[in-house]
Amino acid sequence: MNRKLIFAANWKMNKGPSETEDFLKSFLSKIQGQNFGSDIVIAPPFVSLSKLADVLHTRTAGANSPTIEIAAQNCSEHDSGAFTGEISVMMLREFFVHYVILGHSERRSLYGEVDAVINQKILKARDANLKPIFCIGETLAEREAGKLEAVLRTQISGGLHQVSEKDLSEIIIAYEPVWAIGTGVTATSEQAQDAHAFVRSVIADLYGADAAAKIRIQYGGSVKPGNAAELMACPDIDGALIGGAALDAQSFLEIIKNGSAQ
Ligand code: PGA
Repeated sequence: MNRKLIFAANWKMNKGPSETEDFLKSFLSKIQGQNFGSDIVIAPPFVSLSKLADVLHTRTAGANSPTIEIAAQNCSEHDSGAFTGEISVMMLREFFVHYVILGHSERRSLYGEVDAVINQKILKARDANLKPIFCIGETLAEREAGKLEAVLRTQISGGLHQVSEKDLSEIIIAYEPVWAIGTGVTATSEQAQDAHAFVRSVIADLYGADAAAKIRIQYGGSVKPGNAAELMACPDIDGALIGGAALDAQSFLEIIKNGSAQ
């Protein structure tokens, strides 16, 4: 199965509108004329969505320049109303947002998001035709206790509850071992491949072999220019969700370039 790679920058709480503009100036000039054949996505903080949308939609990309899609880092599970501090999927659509990161481990651990809430957000995102980047992953303690597979299976089945096969085809899974996020410790390519193959087998159990063969599974956790090629060479790894190393235009570009060459 030939799955298109997808490289997504998760900027977390970094880069307001002016830093977003600076990044884009540099990134767009570097990427001009270079189409790596992979999908490229940037997820800035909410307040920078408008800047990203403005710059990307007034850009005259050269014939061979890649499209860059916009992602949000979260969304509300509600449509509108008394939810102070929240942002709805319909609001995101106004900023040309096509993807939304859901279930990131920082949302789970710092903001108490549980599988059932993540599931509601995934369903809401699909209602608005947004593509969820659905994050899952185990902590070091869970891995060391031999619970890796049980944790991933629970996160997947909880997050995808009542998600149709048609909607699944618009979802990207990001496997991000919590112990590798922002730590500089990357899973070895063998550890990552094993986990990805397991995730795909859970999707096969839930949706059948065809859906499992099609779904894209990104790896996330200290991806850098130096390890992107080895990770992307693994048969079940279909791209990367990149935090720290995607804050710098050159480094994000090199990850896409090195990873896409696989
Ligand atoms: P990192 O973050 O690349 O800085 O480890 C990845 C993520 O949290 O998505």
